[in-house]
Amino acid sequence: MSAAAALAAGQPLLVSHFAEWREAARDLLVHAVPPELVTWSQPGAVDLFSGAPAPAEPAHNASIRLDQARPAPHVPRSLMDMLQTAACCRMPDRWAFLYRVIWRWTQGEHDVQSAADADGARLHAMVKAVHREEHDMHAYIRFRERPEAAGPPRFVAWFEPRHDVLPQVAEHFVSRMGKVSWMIATPDASVLWDGATLHNTGPLMSSAADLDDAGEALWLTYYRSIFNPARLNTQVMQSHIPSRFWKNLPEGAIVPQMVTNAALGERRTGQAQAVGRKGGATIPIAPADAQPERQQPSKLDECRRCELWQYATQAVPGEGPKRSQIMLVGEQPGDQEDLAGHAFVGPAGKLLDKVFDAAGVARRELYLTNAVKHFKWEPRGKRRLHKTPAQREVEACHYWLEKELAAVKPKVIVALGSTALKSVLGTGNVTLKDTLGKPIRHDGRWVVTVYHPSYILRVPDENAKQQAFKVMVDGLKLAQELLERPPEEPPA
Ligand code: URA
Repeated sequence: MSAAAALAAGQPLLVSHFAEWREAARDLLVHAVPPELVTWSQPGAVDLFSGAPAPAEPAHNASIRLDQARPAPHVPRSLMDMLQTAACCRMPDRWAFLYRVIWRWTQGEHDVQSAADADGARLHAMVKAVHREEHDMHAYIRFRERPEAAGPPRFVAWFEPRHDVLPQVAEHFVSRMGKVSWMIATPDASVLWDGATLHNTGPLMSSAADLDDAGEALWLTYYRSIFNPARLNTQVMQSHIPSRFWKNLPEGAIVPQMVTNAALGERRTGQAQAVGRKGGATIPIAPADAQPERQQPSKLDECRRCELWQYATQAVPGEGPKRSQIMLVGEQPGDQEDLAGHAFVGPAGKLLDKVFDAAGVARRELYLTNAVKHFKWEPRGKRRLHKTPAQREVEACHYWLEKELAAVKPKVIVALGSTALKSVLGTGNVTLKDTLGKPIRHDGRWVVTVYHPSYILRVPDENAKQQAFKVMVDGLKLAQELLERPPEEPPA
């Protein structure tokens, strides 16, 4: 039933979110229904004094001519954006207020959008309150890391927002936290990000204290979200976990229900049996053959050679001319590189630009890459702090550096810092300190070592900063000189 028809029948308009309000408001405007004839109510609204659910106010039988529809009025985007934001503001009369504003605008009272008007001032204040709450939630939410063995989500946070900002805040964290799984719980709703999809659920906890034993509820939510009825095979499930144990497992309570749902039609027939367990003789095989080597990823973004892909927004490839004579190798992308998908675009990259200027080298002629292609980080408040990659991660990613070296064929590699040096030489036996200013011949190329730009950004002493900067500039100049030096000539 349309909003105008519901009203004409004496029913209140039940609205729980902006899209519903917008549809109802459009219908009312089309039928020229003035705000004073409309009774709005919100499911789950609470009586301000008793705290009990507020009864829906009965609507008067509005005298609406349903046959007298007019074209939908045009409302500017800027006003719709304000109304959408203000709709997140938890005011008991929010839907009625928003309708009054849009009604006045369509009556030619365009001042209603201005802060000088009484309704306009309230609209501006609501928008501000919502933006402030979004900001506070970004800034003050604290993710707690859960042990890996506890299963997803990896990070959980509890927050009590004053306004309905969870959906937009969740989008913010999707773009900030890469593929690592997390959950934000609030008293009214929860969102769970499994690394690829955002799942909205009802409330899962009632206070921050529940975070401590959050495991079970979170696991159930996650289990439901990943359950794929098309791949269900109860025989295999029972052989893994006999059903008498299910009752003691967190997912035990929901598995039978999901199995029933699947059997009732969600399952693609035939498929489950085909992947069933087959009988037959046991054939002993050598351990080496038991785990045949996996096919190597052909695209960097598909790389699963180590765990880091799960926590990064994307893999960051090297960049530069296909046949650059000098290749710079850094450690790993930072926060900004991870978001942008390009190497050295953050503070370390800005410092490198200064080094290039001082050394008289053009960035566009260099190939810039990293030893590790995914951003490794740890949460610190709302920030993602760089975490040095482990040796096994550097080794796993060496596969990609080899590919770049084979394609670009640089004559000189400049290793920025010790992680890069280890990756380039394939050993940790040679230190940065010992090689500064002393080029090494390795695999038919020159390798020059310099400090990592972040070292210069970090070091507090101004003198040390300048010295380190000079080492970097000299290293870049040396790299250029080496282009002219015959390979057999011993280092100067
Ligand atoms: N630090 C690096 O080592 N590489 C980047 O791309 C950015 C910062």
